Amino acid sequence: MEIDALFKVLLTGAIILWLLVNGLFFHVTRRNPRAMSRKLAETLIIGGGIVFPTVVLGMLLGYSLNLMGSQSEPGDASTRVEVIGKQWWWQVRYVRDGDVTVTTANELRLPLGQRTEITLLSDKVIHSFWIPALAGKMDMFPGRTTRLALEPQKLGTFRGQCAEFCGTSHALMAFQAIVMPEQEFETWLDRESLPAADPADDQARQGKQVFLREGCGACHRIRGTVANGQTGPDLTHVGSRSTLGAGTLPVTAESFTQWTSHVDTFKPDAFMPAYDHLDSSDLEALGHYLMGLN
Ligand code: CUA
Repeated sequence: MEIDALFKVLLTGAIILWLLVNGLFFHVTRRNPRAMSRKLAETLIIGGGIVFPTVVLGMLLGYSLNLMGSQSEPGDASTRVEVIGKQWWWQVRYVRDGDVTVTTANELRLPLGQRTEITLLSDKVIHSFWIPALAGKMDMFPGRTTRLALEPQKLGTFRGQCAEFCGTSHALMAFQAIVMPEQEFETWLDRESLPAADPADDQARQGKQVFLREGCGACHRIRGTVANGQTGPDLTHVGSRSTLGAGTLPVTAESFTQWTSHVDTFKPDAFMPAYDHLDSSDLEALGHYLMGLN
């Protein structure tokens, strides 16, 4: 909001100055083209060329330096969020009292009207964290933490996108920012911190077996099971997320099936191999199991 005000002040100022300078130019060339007295010319050069710009730019500098303090303030919300740029997805961690309580991926949930601090990191290359509807871009570097605080003023789902070219699937590195009422956010966070649901039926049990048998747990974690991988997205509550593969597919059982068997067509050069050797029964069971992890 403050940045918005700064923009409007700058824009209005620029329009006034443009009108002033061009008006003056029009006046001396068309309206009154007689030679000026030396005294008037000197006053114009010193006043309009030195004093005026110094005063105006000085005031603007003071104004924007003043804003810098409030822009870098940490959040007052009880939750801090860490977002880590990966090869082409986003790891999102919710930190409370210094402890990571929830790890998820490709989805950032924020409480409405609260200033939430977001710390940004990357594991290998530079990415850029960007939710156009909520804030400007912020680069994510390997080994150096950058910070951003967001205080969303409207409810809704907003698209986020990586804004720094980071490799083959850069354009497929998206996420969703979901702004929720504070109480709903708390409920969601509590729910998200629970371990994964047990398979509800035979097909889901088969899916879980496929997951463990194929070694998916080497890269993915599903809390409450032996799968404890750290390389890929945490799948504990993957069925409740809205997109799969960082904004690539909607979350449905068919998407999981397609994704698992043909990752390489959806996201070139992603780390995950395509499991195209699985038969359709196993793939469908796997999709059904993951969909049940809500
Ligand atoms: Cu990450 Cu572009």
